[in-house]
Amino acid sequence: MSKNQNLDIERKQDHIEINLPKNVEFTLKSELAILTIGLQRPPKSRNCYGAWLYAGFVNEKPDTIKTFAVRDVAPDIPLLANIGAVQLNYGVTPKECQYLVDVVKADALILHLNVLQELTQPEGNRNWENLHLRVINYLSVPVIVKEEGYGLSKQVAKKLIGAGVKVLDIAGSGGTSWSQVEAYRATNSLQNLIASSFINWGIPTLDSLKMVREVSKDIPIIASGGLKSGIDGAKAIRMGANIFGLAGQLLKAAHTSESLVSEEIQLIIEQLKITMTRYAPAHVL
Ligand SMILES: Cc1cc2nc3c(=O)[nH]c(=O)nc-3n(C[C@H](O)[C@H](O)[C@H](O)COP(=O)(O)O)c2cc1C
Repeated sequence: MSKNQNLDIERKQDHIEINLPKNVEFTLKSELAILTIGLQRPPKSRNCYGAWLYAGFVNEKPDTIKTFAVRDVAPDIPLLANIGAVQLNYGVTPKECQYLVDVVKADALILHLNVLQELTQPEGNRNWENLHLRVINYLSVPVIVKEEGYGLSKQVAKKLIGAGVKVLDIAGSGGTSWSQVEAYRATNSLQNLIASSFINWGIPTLDSLKMVREVSKDIPIIASGGLKSGIDGAKAIRMGANIFGLAGQLLKAAHTSESLVSEEIQLIIEQLKITMTRYAPAHVL
């Protein structure tokens, strides 16, 4: 295994070990948690796709990729492979992306944008210039671009849609703060101060959702970043999202047991159903 692959795996372990015991949330609350909505039918044009499953976060190459091949236990759920977009500027080729998609039997490839996180990591990748998005036209599956908790802006959304990205995950601010995680992870006080300066940085999820929906009425939007429940999910759908996602909320359950994850997901589904019951269109649930 190469030095870089080891670094990626160690960093992922650091992140999980930090996120589990510590409070790594933005200190400013997600607006979705505060927002109240009337129970209304979402606009007809919104398609909702039910449950999607991430194939895990694939930052690694052949030896670890296979551990993300879970298609046999998830035969009919959309599976998404995931790499950092910046890796396209650091030698990851479209062919390797296709390999990842094939091994995982993924329905789409997510490229995540985490500029600020990379900038607050001493070892982070800083060359985001002219990101090679030619992978979009090369792959056999659609490309989804996802933020990581700092939100997608209008300008970025416009560029991504123009480049042929088929789905956007806004991943706005308000939940897990990667600047907070990197502050905990820092090994000296300067590094800690740099990361801490950005703990509340980002476009709040709700604002990002509205901005991106303004750019396109049709592009499927995944809303994430600070969502804790099916009630938050229903609010996000009402505000223009097609799908919603939660990360931090499920991590602690995942650390406890598989059955707790199932229970948490069942709870989210029931909350979503109840919130939308009166008008719940069949395509939502
Ligand atoms: C431990 C952990 C690891 C994560 N790793 C990735 C990753 O590799 N790729 C990615 O796109 N997002 C990753 N995320 C980010 C989430 O998908 C999400 O965008 C972000 O945490 C905001 O959502 P939340 O507030 O529900 O946590 C990770 C989240 C957690 C908690």
